[in-house]
Amino acid sequence: MREIRRMIKGVRGAPDILPAEIARWQRVETESRRVLENYGYREIRTPIFERTELFVRGIGEGTDIVQKEMYTFTDKGGESLTLRPEATAPVVRAVHEHSLLSEGKPLKVYYIGAMFRHERPQAGRFRQFHQIGVEAIGVESPRVDAEMLALLLHLFEEWGLPDLALYLNSIGDPSCRPSYIERLTAFLRSRKAKLCRDCQERLGRNPLRVLDCKTPGCRAVTADAPKSIDFLCDPCADHFRRLRELLDALEVKYEIDPRLVRGLDYYTRTAFELVNPALGAQNAVAGGGRYDGLSEEIAGKAVPGIGFAVGLERVVASLAGKDKDRKTVGDQPLEGVFVATLGLGLDRHGFLLAQRLRRASVRTGLDLTGEGDRSLRSQLRQADKERFRYCLILGEDEQKRGEVTLKDMQGGGQESIPLGTVVEHLTGVKRG
Ligand code: HAM
Repeated sequence: MREIRRMIKGVRGAPDILPAEIARWQRVETESRRVLENYGYREIRTPIFERTELFVRGIGEGTDIVQKEMYTFTDKGGESLTLRPEATAPVVRAVHEHSLLSEGKPLKVYYIGAMFRHERPQAGRFRQFHQIGVEAIGVESPRVDAEMLALLLHLFEEWGLPDLALYLNSIGDPSCRPSYIERLTAFLRSRKAKLCRDCQERLGRNPLRVLDCKTPGCRAVTADAPKSIDFLCDPCADHFRRLRELLDALEVKYEIDPRLVRGLDYYTRTAFELVNPALGAQNAVAGGGRYDGLSEEIAGKAVPGIGFAVGLERVVASLAGKDKDRKTVGDQPLEGVFVATLGLGLDRHGFLLAQRLRRASVRTGLDLTGEGDRSLRSQLRQADKERFRYCLILGEDEQKRGEVTLKDMQGGGQESIPLGTVVEHLTGVKRG
């Protein structure tokens, strides 16, 4: 007896994106490419996996991502590889590996693709998710930061999400951050008992992260914590001041958030996040910042850079109910032609005709379920359901006369046309 197989389900936190949802994804992607190319960005595609070391060194040993969230495996050659949890470190690697900076600075690239983090799945948080990200590498000037923030808001405007909250901070650089961290650590140590368990542990490993803990107890403690912007060295303070002047000139609205520190160690100076408060707990729709030390870490070359990544699942969730993207077959506009055949000998002719029409760029349907013996009524029902404007009826009598019947599914009228002119007729009808 055959064993009854249990259905195999998808992996938790790795959702399928179904045909009914795809129109919205495609619209976001298409509009992004257009806007990004107008800002001078070109697409780059790096592999889904990299050497584990790239992320450990790039994102930072002490971060949650490296400590807890990476999909790491040893391949058959004994090498430790990791599914990319983000794409900034891979892009920086690729830029140096292929000497792309010789093409001009800043080098501007974007990517669209899946990222992998073993986080606890919940609404808006997944283990496989998608980002659109940009990186501008090679220039330290705050002009790059300002253009990038304007680009970020431009993208969201284009998608139909104009009113989100932009939070900005400067977290300094290796010359001023140590003294800030020292002060912050002393402040937090003296209140250690009030911090949550995770933050008590973070205190030794990554004290900055205590600032963005969401538990009410920690938030109460960090409300009056020392702020990084009060500890900036002169060059960092100057960079931040010039950035803010440019943002004001560009009429970019933002709020300074002294708690904004980001979860990746590579950031220096500018850090920012875009939040959609309507989304609930996982409401950051994009995040980014400057990473002037990352190239040194990965490639041994001191080259500044800045970038951001947008979480596409969160963008799509923000758009739910807002846009008019088509969702089901029933929402599709009435167009194209369904080829119905009557009588066993004709299904092959129907097939050939359908292929000719498709090659002439006409949306064309035909019955694939039967053997060419389905009733006309049931074929017309299918044509109607699948939203075809016309139905071409190929019957034996018509065949003998070298004709087909063209039925308008909208008005209901029909006419006979010579078989040889069908494609011309329909492409003409389509254009007219
Ligand atoms: P990130 O803040 O880790 O930054 O991720 C950017 C965005 O990706 C988040 O704001 C969120 O919208 C989305 N995201 C992150 N994790 C998840 C998840 N588990 N499920 C759903 N969405 C998620 C980075 O990844 C940096 N590489 C950004 C960057 C580029 N910085 C400089 N250049």
